[in-house]
Amino acid sequence: MDMNNLPTSLQQLGNMSVEYMLDMFRENMVPVESFFANYRCAIMEIETKFNVLNERFSIKYDDNPIESIKSRVKELDSIIKKAMKKNIPITLESIEKNIKDIAGVRVICSFEQDIYTLAEQFLEQDDITLLEKKDYIKEPKPNGYRSLHLIVSVPIFTEEGKKDIPVEVQLRTIAMDFWASLEHKMRYKKNISREMQAELADKLHSCATDSAELDKSMQEIRNSLLENKE
Ligand code: GTP
Ligand code: MG
Repeated sequence: MDMNNLPTSLQQLGNMSVEYMLDMFRENMVPVESFFANYRCAIMEIETKFNVLNERFSIKYDDNPIESIKSRVKELDSIIKKAMKKNIPITLESIEKNIKDIAGVRVICSFEQDIYTLAEQFLEQDDITLLEKKDYIKEPKPNGYRSLHLIVSVPIFTEEGKKDIPVEVQLRTIAMDFWASLEHKMRYKKNISREMQAELADKLHSCATDSAELDKSMQEIRNSLLENKE
């Protein structure tokens, strides 16, 4: 602070502190905005890759494997909660290094087989680096949750150069997605009794088994149709 310019009245002091606060705010907001923009850009890159795969697929197989794509950037409060839970220092640098699911892309397919074909063709691309893979389709979670999870890094090109950004990609069938959204709703219901919770968890588990059966039967029908076509 310039000591020759000290405020001489309360009004001046008030105005200065507002100015000072705004400056502080602006200074701190630029890195936060740039941090979130990186993840939004990485999502655009990944979505484009899946849209391109979908388009190419439709030429070769006369069929669109992707039903829909849903993406999100994790909210700041969820990021902070996760960092606290994992004992990660609350700085942009450490969050960037340690939390890999700030950008999330969910790819929803009709058929289970397409999940694996898409994942394979996506991971083959030379600008995609696989950081982690969890196959909850081959090995569902104890509650019945199924999906293929990939954590990848993708380069984005910014005014400061190339930057590798991690993105969590979840590939699911429509049936898996339907189940997961219902289970998610139950998880956040607080005002239900323990007995009711256990009963619903049981029901959900059997829905997961039924939905896996449904996926399998639909895949078989589709395979028969494809065989007949050839
Ligand atoms: P965190 O990333 O810290 O959450 O732990 P993790 O890496 O062990 O999680 P995992 O890769 O198993 O799952 C990450 C994401 O998958 C979650 O944020 C959800 O979107 C989804 N997911 C995983 N398990 C379930 C589940 O049982 N039910 C539902 N609805 N979604 C799930
Ligand atoms: Mg995770």
